[in-house]
Amino acid sequence: MMWTVASDIDGTLTGDRAALDRLTARLRELRAGGRLFLILSTGRRLEQVIHGIADEGLPEPDAVICQVGTEIYLPAFTEQARPMAAWRNRLLAEYSRQQALSFLQGVDGLMMQPAEFNTELKTSCFLDQCPNPEAAVTTIRQRVEPYGDRYQVVWSSNRDLDILPASSGKGKAIRFLVEQKGLDPHRVVVAGDTGNDASMFRAFDKGVVVANAQPELLEMVQALDPGRAYCAQRPYASGVEEGLAHFGVWAGLATARS
Ligand code: GLC
Repeated sequence: MMWTVASDIDGTLTGDRAALDRLTARLRELRAGGRLFLILSTGRRLEQVIHGIADEGLPEPDAVICQVGTEIYLPAFTEQARPMAAWRNRLLAEYSRQQALSFLQGVDGLMMQPAEFNTELKTSCFLDQCPNPEAAVTTIRQRVEPYGDRYQVVWSSNRDLDILPASSGKGKAIRFLVEQKGLDPHRVVVAGDTGNDASMFRAFDKGVVVANAQPELLEMVQALDPGRAYCAQRPYASGVEEGLAHFGVWAGLATARS
């Protein structure tokens, strides 16, 4: 039976290289048997994902969702690859970078993230130098709220704030792919560790929270119906492996073990 696994990269797959090597080998085996559609779903840019596959032991995916769900890529994954136009055009129709920037104006201590993490569809800053980061988030959320049909705020790791198109985010991007590829949404397992992963847990009924997760994700999943999110005992890739065992994903492996 076919599974779709959609995993965040940093702090979810990465963090323990030996554990990632084990997980990657098992995912590769499942995928080689035609039993896995693997999505990497990240805040990284595509070239950083390509680097991760070449040098950090990340598994070879079937699709990559970058920049917190504002870009979707299908193979071949090369530095020249262009994001899927249908997704990009849909998001461009609702998003104005100028307006997104206006929500951040005058917030004391706010620092913009580097230019490569600020795109026509993603406006990202750091709030960790603000006198009170939580208060800054509240201010920004209040400013965005009247425009909630076009913009959303994603807050992660007590540091990163993204203003994204309302229709984007990791969860919605994965949904779009699942529909496009005719995959079964009830055989999707997502995995993550921070606030920008929360949308994946809202969009699908099976999720793995690794043990090293940030409080904002743990709080969010506690509000979900019981059974939807599995909180792993183990951190990083070991936790993902444990969670995939919990949902029965490894049952398709010839060398199945728990
Ligand atoms: C990644 C991105 C960054 C974003 C953060 C949280 O670290 O590089 O731009 O703010 O994820 O979504």
